[in-house]
Amino acid sequence: MPETTQPRKKITLPYLFDKVKKGEPITWLTCYDYPTAYLQEQAGIEMILVGDSLGMTMLGYDSTLPVTMDDMIRHAQAVRRGAPTAFVVGDMPYMTYQPSVETAIRNAGRFMAEAGCDAIKLEGGAAMADRIKGIVDAGIPAIGHLGLTPQSVAALGGFRVQGKSAALAKKIVDDAKALEKAGAFCILLEMVPDRLCQLITERAEGCIIMSLGSGPHAHGQLLIYHDMFGLYPKFKPKMAKVYGNAGEVLLNGLKAYRDEVINRQFPQPENWFGMPDEEFEELKRMLGEA
Ligand code: KIV
Repeated sequence: MPETTQPRKKITLPYLFDKVKKGEPITWLTCYDYPTAYLQEQAGIEMILVGDSLGMTMLGYDSTLPVTMDDMIRHAQAVRRGAPTAFVVGDMPYMTYQPSVETAIRNAGRFMAEAGCDAIKLEGGAAMADRIKGIVDAGIPAIGHLGLTPQSVAALGGFRVQGKSAALAKKIVDDAKALEKAGAFCILLEMVPDRLCQLITERAEGCIIMSLGSGPHAHGQLLIYHDMFGLYPKFKPKMAKVYGNAGEVLLNGLKAYRDEVINRQFPQPENWFGMPDEEFEELKRMLGEA
């Protein structure tokens, strides 16, 4: 009998909470396109974040601020097509939830209705708790994002660790509680000290805590895909482990292609398509060149 691989069952909220109960870490990566989503699905990655970081990694902006809802929906749809069973999270871009609870609910709804997402994520603490509550009350699972929140990078003073002092750490603890109370089922802690992440994880009641550069004690880990494979040439954050240099592989391939075309080594017969002699002769005859 040929070996068959069963397609993975859809990753759901009960599945994620069950992993937390069993003490098994959850895997989460960013992804913005169909082929990468396909590979992440094949690799068994459980959660996928269609992050507004695509503004930098895919669209070449200097920050995430110019990203629009339409950009996000287009990429989230492609990811959903590539990863049908992953738990796909749509990241709400700048000014699509800050203005009002109603704006937040409408835009969160677009991720669900137009892109088939499983949840949304937004940045901010207690000040955004009413947005989280409104979205959750509308039946949409919501994830909070604390610590280094790229949409507020100007106010935070750059891409740096957040919550190193007791006072700032206390604010993050309070923000996490406010989000949890508002109904967030998950909170992402980005670039906070490991001990702070551990403390928040231990105090979480029915809320999944995920770490991005915040140490090993959370319920799971998130990484930015482009940082893992050397695909973002401008910057490599300390928290990113590089699992392979795909950027270098691609660059070498591109240079080889350029050289082969210039030196007439590409294409070779296996790269083109022939035509039967008689058809070609007939063609020439039709053109009056026989
Ligand atoms: O947009 C994104 O990829 C994010 C991560 C930095 C967490 O929000």
